[in-house]
Amino acid sequence: MSWCAEAEALLARFGEDAHFCLSYMESVDSTNEEVKRRARQGGREGLVVVGEEQTAGKGRLGRSWKSPAGEALYFSFLLRPDIAPENWSMLTLVMGLAGAEAVRELTGLPARIKWPNDLVLGTKKICGILTEVLMDEGGPEGLVIGTGVNVNNRDFPAELRERATSLRLESGEEISRGRLLAHMLRAFRRFYAVFLVRGDMSALRDRYNEYLVSRGGEVRLETPAGAYTAVSLGIDGRGRLLVRRTTGETEAVSAGEVSVRGLYGYV
Ligand code: BTN
Repeated sequence: MSWCAEAEALLARFGEDAHFCLSYMESVDSTNEEVKRRARQGGREGLVVVGEEQTAGKGRLGRSWKSPAGEALYFSFLLRPDIAPENWSMLTLVMGLAGAEAVRELTGLPARIKWPNDLVLGTKKICGILTEVLMDEGGPEGLVIGTGVNVNNRDFPAELRERATSLRLESGEEISRGRLLAHMLRAFRRFYAVFLVRGDMSALRDRYNEYLVSRGGEVRLETPAGAYTAVSLGIDGRGRLLVRRTTGETEAVSAGEVSVRGLYGYV
């Protein structure tokens, strides 16, 4: 059985097959782009595109996401949530929470969340999430959540070695990509249902903050208004990162680059 068929079989066992419809591609430019194309042709919520390799994988802030075949997991799914579109971006956090729980559940590794969209083990990144809103003439019509996980990677290019690791490198064991995919999707659905009740992070906030790697530590924020350091206090119900500045003021940050002291070479 291919690893994606294993994910499908497991989703059926979890009773999640009615919600997620998996489509596996040997090669695709970007699973996010493929979901967007299919969404424009009427794709339904729960459509999942899984790529063995991506030839033009995308990271945040216009960066590329190297996506060779064979070791990592690349997938994107479509949502059409029936809540105000200004709340959709919080679903990145829901995916982060789901990813951390699924990695812990399946591997026992203590995955943590770097707000807003990375998962880390120790001081290195294992997963990135790229959320994109799909617009048509009538406004936002859907949301694509794309996730890349370093699963069985045995090595990384020199420029990433300091900042990236994989589940295999950390556990010493080969991890089934299919099982991880199914566990991530199941965890996402569980948290998505909770999220939809209020359309925000208020009911998930405590759980999220337990996994937040920066909590109580120093972060460096690069915002449109300038760069500064502060202490991270955790997210609020709107998914914003609360920080205490050196002046003593507490501020809620909703966007920008956040570096966490001790992570990815920031010392
Ligand atoms: C980041 O950390 O910069 C986000 C990386 C997101 C990568 C995933 S891989 C699957 C999906 N398809 C893409 O082109 N990007 C996302």
